[in-house]
Formats: sequence, C-alpha cells, structure tokens
Amino acid sequence: GDNVMFLAHRYDIEMEGACEASLACSTCHVYVDPAFSDKLPEPLEEEDDMLDMAPALKDNSRLGCQIV
Ligand code: FES
Repeated sequence: GDNVMFLAHRYDIEMEGACEASLACSTCHVYVDPAFSDKLPEPLEEEDDMLDMAPALKDNSRLGCQIV
C-alpha cells in the first residue's frame, strides 16, 4: 500500500519502520501538521495502543505507516 512511510521511502526520506507497517512497533511515529489532521481518518484502536508506547507523544501523533 501507499502509506506515508512507504511514500517517504520511495522519495528517499528517512523514516523508520521496524515492523513494516504491521502495527507492532512505534518507530514510524510522526507528528501530523494540524492543517491536515482533520482530513485523516481516525486511528484504529491498535494504532492508538502502539502510540501509547511511543516516546514524546503529542495530540497530533500518528504512526506514519498507518496514514494512507
Ligand atoms: Fe511499525 Fe509502523 S512500521 S507500526
């Protein structure tokens, strides 16, 4: 799929993604620009659970591999 993490990789932008988008890590943690956050679907419960373990969590935190 074309999630943000894979798009970043395609354009050689550094983004971690230790579990290859299987929602088993939080290394793809990103902050979403508030201008766009309203346009994104709500995170799944599984994503929220992983985000709880991410360092420096913010209101606009998402897992990059789950933003499509
Ligand atoms: Fe592991 Fe996104 S790459 S949850």
